[in-house]
Amino acid sequence: MCGIFGCILKTGLAAPSIYDGLKRLEYRGYDSVGFATLELGTLHVKKDKGKIEDVVQRLSLNRLPGSVGVGHTRWATHGAPSMVNAHPHTDCQERIAVIHNGVVENFLELKGELINKGHIFKSRTDTEVIAHMIEEEMKGDIELGEAIIRALKQLEGSYALAVVSSDAPERIYCARNESPLVLGLSEKGSFCASDVPAMLPYTNKVVYLRNGEFAVLDKDGFDIQKIQDGVHVERELQEITWTIEMAEKQGYPHFMLKEIYEQPRSLRNALRLQKQYLDLLTAFLDRGKELFLVAAGTSSYACAAASYMFSKIARLTTYPVVSSEFIEQYGSSVGIDSVVLAVSQSGETYDTLKAVDLARMKAATVLGVTNTVGSTLTRVARAYVVQQSGPEIGVAATKTFTSQLLVLSQLALRLARARGKISQDEVDDLDDKMLKVPDIVEQVLGRHGEGIKNLVNKYNDNDLYVFLGRGISSATAMEGRLKLLELTYVPSLAYPAGESKHGPISVVEEGVPVVFVCPRGDSRRDILGSIMEMKARGARIISICEEGDEEIIGISDDMVEMPRGIPELLSPIAYVVPLQLFAYHLAVQKGLDPDKPRNLAKSVTVP
Ligand code: AGP
Repeated sequence: MCGIFGCILKTGLAAPSIYDGLKRLEYRGYDSVGFATLELGTLHVKKDKGKIEDVVQRLSLNRLPGSVGVGHTRWATHGAPSMVNAHPHTDCQERIAVIHNGVVENFLELKGELINKGHIFKSRTDTEVIAHMIEEEMKGDIELGEAIIRALKQLEGSYALAVVSSDAPERIYCARNESPLVLGLSEKGSFCASDVPAMLPYTNKVVYLRNGEFAVLDKDGFDIQKIQDGVHVERELQEITWTIEMAEKQGYPHFMLKEIYEQPRSLRNALRLQKQYLDLLTAFLDRGKELFLVAAGTSSYACAAASYMFSKIARLTTYPVVSSEFIEQYGSSVGIDSVVLAVSQSGETYDTLKAVDLARMKAATVLGVTNTVGSTLTRVARAYVVQQSGPEIGVAATKTFTSQLLVLSQLALRLARARGKISQDEVDDLDDKMLKVPDIVEQVLGRHGEGIKNLVNKYNDNDLYVFLGRGISSATAMEGRLKLLELTYVPSLAYPAGESKHGPISVVEEGVPVVFVCPRGDSRRDILGSIMEMKARGARIISICEEGDEEIIGISDDMVEMPRGIPELLSPIAYVVPLQLFAYHLAVQKGLDPDKPRNLAKSVTVP
């Protein structure tokens, strides 16, 4: 997730407005920044690694000449944060500058073709191919706008783009597929941005570009057309009534809620990872004699869930370990035959990095799954995958958790395929169902987003909650408990349901809410007994179950019915969503700030 801002002003320099716009988009990414402006047919490009304010001052970006320009604040996806990898990216002749938010999935293939045609690449990014593709198309004496469209038709993946060129000194070209882009118009000129807050100081009259659309901006307005067939699009300007602060959260009261609702998109991004990185990780996983899944907090629950996936479909025994315990528990036995897969959205968690250090010292193979390119984990891991969730501002992990699960599912499936321990049909079927997970999460949000508030109203005065699940759902239950605990500070328990009678059931008495996570699947049969056990003690049963599961519904006091079609192994990705919403709404009802729970930091970088 990156931030894009561009403007064509009737008078004055574009650069100060670009700076101002990017500052308002900083929450979208902040590892590097760059501007491209046009003045009398000359393209000026400056960029570097670092925070917007520092780079702008260091390179005097604010003083770049010209009333037309675009700027970009980056959240690295391909290529570590560095000057060359910062946007804008230019073609060989430095006449075309491109800024991009999204992922070009087929960039390696396109890059290869362009290199064969003599193009010289400066960066390791996917974006740079776009500048060279446009340049290549223009060789056929094609006009810039048409060349951009021809290039867009070859791109696979997601993009919000803004292009400027010395060949069209009074224009900005924009396009969108899956990544957001909004256009704005005022008496001062025309604007484009990733998000409304950047626009609001200049205008509240905007048009949201839709998937598959291309727009040409000049100082008096813009013209939109469909990329595929060039059909002209008429769309009325929309008036935004949000304040700047509301707009940063896209109208949601908190970042956490925005991030919960972003999950269908972040999950789709997690399905667009470069296949060669997944293959590389899979090859390493296959080679190891033992696999440790090492992580802290929410990430450790993603690992707990993944251990069921690796075991069930790839027949690989794994050891999910909380990173702060790894050295004590396995430090002496880990060795050259071990693989340590560290999972950390920040890539900076102290305990996880300490575990990784030890593993490297013992010559184990260290792999990583993270959301942060350029983080320490990406530097120390032998191979890693970046989950592409975009920055998560809320301290409580939500979208990064579900994307971690989806990345780990993809690895488990690849390993299952490579090892051939389950049938081809079973793997294919799981693969198909995995592709539908973002849609299922979208349905869950649509159906239950509001309804969960009623559930919270009913249960908001309890001073103890219990979360239970069997099999992979025990990990979902643990994550649901963690969300509730960290946001509402209400004591709560979570454990595998079968453990109840070994002790924890002693706390259950009349009226205690017990949340059962019970998708259909192998563990579903045994959960009925656990529910009855709790009911017998007077517990109030809240079930997260599949729609139409009458047996469970019949013995529950309340239920959240989940769409059919998600296999048990992938169920945590969808079944955790109502639990995220429950914790969020309960915190809000208690007057607490869900974005900044007390005593907690987003990234724990200290011992
Ligand atoms: C989750 O809501 C917490 N903020 C916390 O448990 C977090 O998951 C943990 O600190 C691990 O962070 P990481 O994924 O960045 O390593």
